[in-house]
Amino acid sequence: MSVPEDDLRGRVARLTLDEKADLLTGANFWTLRAVPEIGLRRLVLSDGPSGVRGVAWDERAPSLLFPNATSLAATWSVPSAERAGFLNGAQARDKGVHVQLAPTVNLHRTPLGGRHFENYSEDPLLTARIGAGFVRGVQSTGVAATVKHFVGNDSETGRMSYDARISPSVLESVYLRPFAEAVRAGAWAVMAAYNKVNGTSMTENRPLLTEVLKERWGFDGVIVSDWTAIRSTEASANAGMDLEMPGLPSSRWRAKLAAAVREGRVAEELVDDKVLRLLRLAARVGALEGVPEPPPVTTPPDARDQLRGLAAQGMVLLRNEGGVLPLSPGSAIALIGPNAVRFSAQGGGSAHVNPAHVVTPVEGLRRVFGPAFPVHSGVHPHDRLAPLPIGMATDPETGERGVRLEFIDADGALLNSEHRSAAHFIILDGLPPGTAQIVLRANVTPATDGIHTFAAAGVGAHELRIGSLSTTATLTADGLDPVEALMRPPEHRMEAELSAGRTVPVELRHATGGRGAAFSLGYQEPHLPEDEEFAAAVAAARAAETAIVIVGTHDGVESEGFDRTTLALPGRQDALISAVAAANPRTIAVVNAGAPVLMPWRDEVAAILWAWLPGQEGGDAIADVLCGAAEPGGRLPTTFPASESDLLSPVPDADGTLAYAEGADIGHRHYAPDDIAFPFGHGLGYTTWEYTSLKLQDGVAEVTVRNTGTRPGREVVQCYDASRLVGFEAVEAEPGAEATTRISLDGEPRTVRAGRSSADIRLTG
Ligand code: BGC
Repeated sequence: MSVPEDDLRGRVARLTLDEKADLLTGANFWTLRAVPEIGLRRLVLSDGPSGVRGVAWDERAPSLLFPNATSLAATWSVPSAERAGFLNGAQARDKGVHVQLAPTVNLHRTPLGGRHFENYSEDPLLTARIGAGFVRGVQSTGVAATVKHFVGNDSETGRMSYDARISPSVLESVYLRPFAEAVRAGAWAVMAAYNKVNGTSMTENRPLLTEVLKERWGFDGVIVSDWTAIRSTEASANAGMDLEMPGLPSSRWRAKLAAAVREGRVAEELVDDKVLRLLRLAARVGALEGVPEPPPVTTPPDARDQLRGLAAQGMVLLRNEGGVLPLSPGSAIALIGPNAVRFSAQGGGSAHVNPAHVVTPVEGLRRVFGPAFPVHSGVHPHDRLAPLPIGMATDPETGERGVRLEFIDADGALLNSEHRSAAHFIILDGLPPGTAQIVLRANVTPATDGIHTFAAAGVGAHELRIGSLSTTATLTADGLDPVEALMRPPEHRMEAELSAGRTVPVELRHATGGRGAAFSLGYQEPHLPEDEEFAAAVAAARAAETAIVIVGTHDGVESEGFDRTTLALPGRQDALISAVAAANPRTIAVVNAGAPVLMPWRDEVAAILWAWLPGQEGGDAIADVLCGAAEPGGRLPTTFPASESDLLSPVPDADGTLAYAEGADIGHRHYAPDDIAFPFGHGLGYTTWEYTSLKLQDGVAEVTVRNTGTRPGREVVQCYDASRLVGFEAVEAEPGAEATTRISLDGEPRTVRAGRSSADIRLTG
């Protein structure tokens, strides 16, 4: 949509300084102020990249939950990235969201990074291409993409303050590259990160915000702060920030910005430019009267099928000895593993969305392998209970499935009462004013006899009652990143002996103050001690034709707000896989994780399928791939190290410095070859390929491959120079058929090596 610049400037000129300053800080957590006098409607922003949550963190406004970003990058498919972007944009349109806070294009500098799952790849080129595709897809719907977090936010420990020391050439060729490409793709917004780069906070970093992003790259959109990342008035305004988020009483702009202009510390023309950019954004997303709105877009009816297809396309077959996969439908399987029972469909933090449903692996596999196979968790690696399954609870007031939430003031008066279908609540902004306590009440009917465990989780004072038993606790989370306090809050447990079918009243009181609250009612049904559970799982595996073991992480491990301290699978999962593999030679490990884990058992199992955090349709996608209805089309967008001996640390020094001393050598360029378990670019698929020719001309590599297997397949042809990915393209071919692809090469490589992964080069030219 062409934006009428003179018209926009005219509108800016009609505002007073105070009105302009007011506009440049959010009205609240997710929305900006409307100014009807100049035709500006209220702009709405919402997180990504796992979906579009909308303005409520709430099960009553569900969102499509996408496969995690690394899974999307594992498709190595720019059209798939565009498709995912389009579906996000369509969701945004349905939810009245104008600006999606995605894609996240920081790099996999270290696999310990907490937001690894939310980022695409270790590789700047792959990240740049997938990110740009996502931006084009979102914006084709008339919704703005926000490329984040500019720049150097590649880990979480001390993220609000660390100083990433990155040499100018590395910054340029590695970390800025995805942002540059997203801007070239036309991104309408960029988010400035919390951290510093080379001594200056990113929200005060004039060289990067103004000189690079706005002047050199010609970015004409809005630079929005990460939430609360603006900590100064004139330094941030003069550096080039355009919009302060969210709108909190602690704003550093608004009246302070107007005062800074009056006192000559910030030029009014600079403020005008910020407002102009905001109006330009509003015009682009259809929030400015007099400018035609983008054509209507809505979530397509087959969106669930598309998510399922994207999830399968991203799955990576790491190992497949003797062609054990795909399995014939109807095979006698045993399903083992903690993530088979407590499935991780997404990672934690601001990317989290509330899907209307999640297809679990049990549901997906039953469709293919029948209803009767045994299911065993085997181990209990979680250190927090899952929220109470809502199917066990009824609202004591209405009798409906769900719970009752009551908001009570300091005098005990009821301010509001509502029916909810969740046991985990995050209310960022929007408690009834004066709320001092939230009471969750439910009638809970257990399915089994025995010792049931309940928990209050969240920061603050809690009282938990189960029937006639009660307990109280005041839980603290001192020093945690606020997002960490949300994602892995302190928990207080209580056990109760209950009988199957006999309903008990449950009540959780959570004391709160201020505008938000976060708490949950955790639950665990009676279960065997871990040794017995482990033995039962191994026995079931031994009796089955094929054992499928689903292991992995969860959002208490992979999340915004903290980094991992180890790549080991939580709990005794490694021991479980080894024991199952010893009991059944047809053991298939499915890893349900967003970021690399160590797989010391990788040579013991027949097959390994890397499923990522595959989103709401994940269980069906896993089943599709295991039975061969879909090919695991993915290739690793990041190197899987064999040990922890050579990992880059995400932990800043005592003085807050995080030295990127490795320079450009991250990912596969960083590890010694024998310290790599599975190389960058690796992925087997269900057929085999021969590389027959490589021709180079005018910066293009023409590569021909032949499908030498018995199934149709998809091959991701990768081109490297001496050590760097310089191009890629996917091709499809029927058994016996050849396919040729033309790959435009990045830079001017002297030698081009074409192959199946960074470690499996087939042709050199
Ligand atoms: C995250 C951003 C996110 C913002 C709003 C921050 O904590 O770093 O990625 O968009 O919160 O939720």
